[in-house]
Amino acid sequence: MHTVLTCSLHGETYAIDRLQNLSAAGKPLLAGYDLAAIKSTFTPDIVRQRNERSIWKFWEVLPVASAADAISLGEGVTPLLQCERRGEFSDYSQLYIKDESFNPTGSFKARGMSAAVTRAVALGAKAFALPSAGNAGGAAAYYSAKAGLPCYVFMPEDTPEANIDEAVVAGANVFLVNGLISDCGKLTRQACERFGWFDLSTLKEPFRLEGKKTMGYELAFDMAAASGSSSLTLPDVIFYPTGGGTGLIGMWKAFDEMQQLGWIGSERPRMVAVQAEGCAPIVKAFRDGVESAPLFPNAHTVASGLRVPAAVGDFLMIRCLRESRGTAVTVTDAELMQGVREIAARQGIYACPEGGAVWAAAKQLTATGWLKPDERIVLFNTGTGLKYNHLLKAEGLTRLDHTSASVMDEIAKRV
Ligand SMILES: Cc1ncc(COP(=O)(O)O)c(C=O)c1O
Repeated sequence: MHTVLTCSLHGETYAIDRLQNLSAAGKPLLAGYDLAAIKSTFTPDIVRQRNERSIWKFWEVLPVASAADAISLGEGVTPLLQCERRGEFSDYSQLYIKDESFNPTGSFKARGMSAAVTRAVALGAKAFALPSAGNAGGAAAYYSAKAGLPCYVFMPEDTPEANIDEAVVAGANVFLVNGLISDCGKLTRQACERFGWFDLSTLKEPFRLEGKKTMGYELAFDMAAASGSSSLTLPDVIFYPTGGGTGLIGMWKAFDEMQQLGWIGSERPRMVAVQAEGCAPIVKAFRDGVESAPLFPNAHTVASGLRVPAAVGDFLMIRCLRESRGTAVTVTDAELMQGVREIAARQGIYACPEGGAVWAAAKQLTATGWLKPDERIVLFNTGTGLKYNHLLKAEGLTRLDHTSASVMDEIAKRV
């Protein structure tokens, strides 16, 4: 059970027993735990023995008094798949994809929503609202449905249809807005004030981060299993498709907690933030050597999860990249979509465009020598490609007339 909420910029603390959004300085609040007190009862071996098949197997570092209190749809516990060495992947001896498409609603957003909705319901929230240009809206709609509470989603008009439809099917009230995610965020804030809804915007409440940090915990177990060792271990490099950055910041927090618990040492992966060329505020700030990222003008990319022109957790992401001796790179829309095709055809995984982006970035950093193909590398595929079929129309299909005498000759042309 968490014991304190702390402003991520100034460090002052806030009560844990009431609904909270940002700190007084308008910065994210971070949940803290009495890790020393749980050290003897929360160990890797104990976690391994649990039957719980969700993020709530880590309940001691999540906002509940027991796993039974969670509002869960079975999120997390996703596979870490080692890449086959073929085609463009041939040089990489220890390349893995953490495949988050296995989550409820097909994306890693489920982890954060499960934690945030669980905590907010326990503190008396009666309705939820959030801006979303992609998967978060769907995830929020389904966890609200599970909680039996209304959900209001503000989406830019160009949000992929699948994301809009899934939210509507779950009974969410969806508003399509003629602007960007940041405009939707403004409307969410105003509507929450006016109607008393709880704002689930990314990093504007403390617990989506907590849910997403479980990717960091799981990875330590996955990597140990992959190397046949019982000691938890982390990869050398993690590639993360970065929008609001919740997963990046969350995993970094998880590594710190695991060190305090004595589960790992001080070693850390190099963290790589991947953004699209048309919307790269974090990459620009990282390259400019500044602490925060100004609004990125005219944001555009087909990877809708990366279309975040300004992020409230900007300074936390940049800090994580620097402390980890990581980096930040951009890829073009053409490169990220090519990445989706290569992962599908060579690895059998239908990745989302954001997943394609991290593979494109890994190739780019291999070419510059920053990444060595024999390092232990983890790419995050944050969602399923199935929601992006509109970007990947099948080409070159052969149509068959099953009544034709030459139908086998037609097939032979494709063999
Ligand atoms: C598939 C996908 N990948 C990545 C992101 C960005 O995630 P984060 O906000 O943790 O940076 C999103 C956010 O919408 C997403 O839907």
